[in-house]
Amino acid sequence: MKNVACIADLHRLASRKVPRAFFDYVCAGSYEEETLRANIDDLRKVKLRQRVLVDMSGRDLSTTILGEKVPLPIALAPVALTGLQHGNGEILAAQAANDAGIPYTLSTMSICSIEQVAEATGKPFWFQLYMMRDRSFIAELIGRARAANCSALVLTVDLQVLGQRHCDVRNGLSVPPEFRLGNILNMATKPAWLLSVLKSKSRTFGNLAGHVKGMEDVKSLAQWTATQFDQGLSWDDIAWVKSQWPGKLILKGILDVQDARLAVKSGADAIVVSNHGGRQLDGAASSISILPDIVDAVGSEIEIMFDGGIRTGMDVMRALALGAKSCLVGRPYAWGVGAGGKAGAAKAIDILAKELDVTLALCGYKRVADINREAVAVATSAMKVTAPAHC
Ligand code: FNR
Ligand code: LAC
Repeated sequence: MKNVACIADLHRLASRKVPRAFFDYVCAGSYEEETLRANIDDLRKVKLRQRVLVDMSGRDLSTTILGEKVPLPIALAPVALTGLQHGNGEILAAQAANDAGIPYTLSTMSICSIEQVAEATGKPFWFQLYMMRDRSFIAELIGRARAANCSALVLTVDLQVLGQRHCDVRNGLSVPPEFRLGNILNMATKPAWLLSVLKSKSRTFGNLAGHVKGMEDVKSLAQWTATQFDQGLSWDDIAWVKSQWPGKLILKGILDVQDARLAVKSGADAIVVSNHGGRQLDGAASSISILPDIVDAVGSEIEIMFDGGIRTGMDVMRALALGAKSCLVGRPYAWGVGAGGKAGAAKAIDILAKELDVTLALCGYKRVADINREAVAVATSAMKVTAPAHC
């Protein structure tokens, strides 16, 4: 990873190492990708305030997430199929997160199972839950997360139906990988990937295969979600989830002030302001443009996390300045895993941490915990951020 300077370098490396269908799966947003682009563009419109001649020695990037002290205000987001970016991808990403002392979130749609990740890492991680119609299966899945000592349940609430990514249709994305001629020719050009996947602990949906009737025949994510995901899920069901899961509960995918208020009422411990990385409702507002309103409405009542479009430590600074307590990152570490397994995921975390550290200093702060809206010089007018007095 010597010549890797930034997340874009990991993206480039992954594009060379990972078969097309799985690389495209990570990069894509739904439909016209308007929201995917808005996430990134709107973050960059938030201009930071440069301060000089303030003591910036002895900086501290630590904060707390759900009451736990962490060295960085960052957690790894759930990313389905990480184990097809590199064999055992979920285990490798979890190990990189452990080394950095930050939370790792395992997706319901992971390749390595909860048990495989728990066994290989030996440290608590967060488990992300998709609600399916078969409640007895979900109760069992939550039970498996409890048995594995998972430290938080991340209930994703913005994917009762699946937004289409056009490339997944065109690439015939399937799990396990389908050995069609086109795929074989493409995989043959990625020998290191092929070897890592052939040697890996799992090549199908590790949490589902063998646990759900009929799952053996379901190959595409779209097919699976269409048949199994609970489209009738509502706020009333959160109480049922809480009855199964007594630990910390995070609701992921809140993008509206009214929903944020309902999330507080539901008794969740935290929310992630998120539009699923621009992969669900195309045409939805960017996460960063909604963040300040949600912070103003419920910031004193519930812990607020943020995701969507973070590609640099400067972006982490922007989200914290607009009121997030911590940030989840998805694609940056998924590219890292594709680029170089555990070392790649570790590199992604390290890049974001170093960039955040320098940004913190140049904004005149010593401690992440002190960042507030005063760190913002200009925010896009669409964000309705009240300009601090200094503007
Ligand atoms: C995701 N995301 C996601 N979220 C979730 O709750 N469960 C999941 O299984 C997945 N799977 C998934 C796969 C891929 C390839 C991506 C890129 C994303 C959404 C993810 O957790 C997070 O919200 C976004 O990735 C954040 O945006 P960035 O950081 O990728 O811009
Ligand atoms: C995705 C789902 C599975 O974004 O979360 O692909």
